[in-house]
Amino acid sequence: MIHGIFGRPYVDLEKYVDLTALESLDEEICLGLAEVPVDYTGGSHRSMEIMPASRTSEAHVDYGEVIASLDPDAYATFRSLANEPTTYPDRPADATFGEERDHPLSRRQMLWLEYRHGVYFPWKVYLEMIPNRTWEEKSSPDGKEFTRIARTFFPKTIAFVRSLPFAHIGRCNLMGLSSNDHGTAHRDGVPEEKAKVDHFITLCPRGNKRLYLWDEEKKEKIAVRGRAYWFNDSDHHGVDADPFFRYSIRIDGVFRPDFLATLETDLSSS
Ligand SMILES: [Fe+2]
Repeated sequence: MIHGIFGRPYVDLEKYVDLTALESLDEEICLGLAEVPVDYTGGSHRSMEIMPASRTSEAHVDYGEVIASLDPDAYATFRSLANEPTTYPDRPADATFGEERDHPLSRRQMLWLEYRHGVYFPWKVYLEMIPNRTWEEKSSPDGKEFTRIARTFFPKTIAFVRSLPFAHIGRCNLMGLSSNDHGTAHRDGVPEEKAKVDHFITLCPRGNKRLYLWDEEKKEKIAVRGRAYWFNDSDHHGVDADPFFRYSIRIDGVFRPDFLATLETDLSSS
């Protein structure tokens, strides 16, 4: 089932946020992405057990499974490619690796996992504009700011993000999919464990990323369209493949009370 927000699958924010700047942000973002170092993300959704059961095969080769099966020599190679190899355990079974885990992957480790072991990283362009260590602290502003790279290459984008109706922001990242790649269906939270829907806005300046929500009971996709939206990320979601690059920006934080009240009034009554 889809849990949604305010009784609907997702919230289209186009009429609540002035999006006239998006065209010029798109120019800035595409140029900036050509100039800055980026990471990969995704690639372990099946081993993280956050995929819908009926669609786990779509993750292809999962790095969590690969790392767990490395022989000692291969693990030594993997470890040597870390940014800080000495902090790594002697054996893979003694720790977890990758996003939200004990040991984040270095760029070199991601590329080696892709080239040597065929790992599928769905998002091959990942830029943390406000870095954030754990999922639980993504809405908190404490000790965080836009990176130097973000401030240098994406000033208009930052100004726009700061103008959004948040009381504060705790995370801002850009996620891009290469042509023909799909974003594996997964969920970011467990609805039974989390009663409240986390506040965030996704911006897709070109409106061309085919995000969908996945109803595992009905085995059905619900398309999410528009250039600005909010959805319940405890619902399964993924991105369909297209033969061109697509990106979006996700901003996490806490909405201003007046903005939340407007949404609640409008959407609960309509
Ligand atoms: Fe997600």
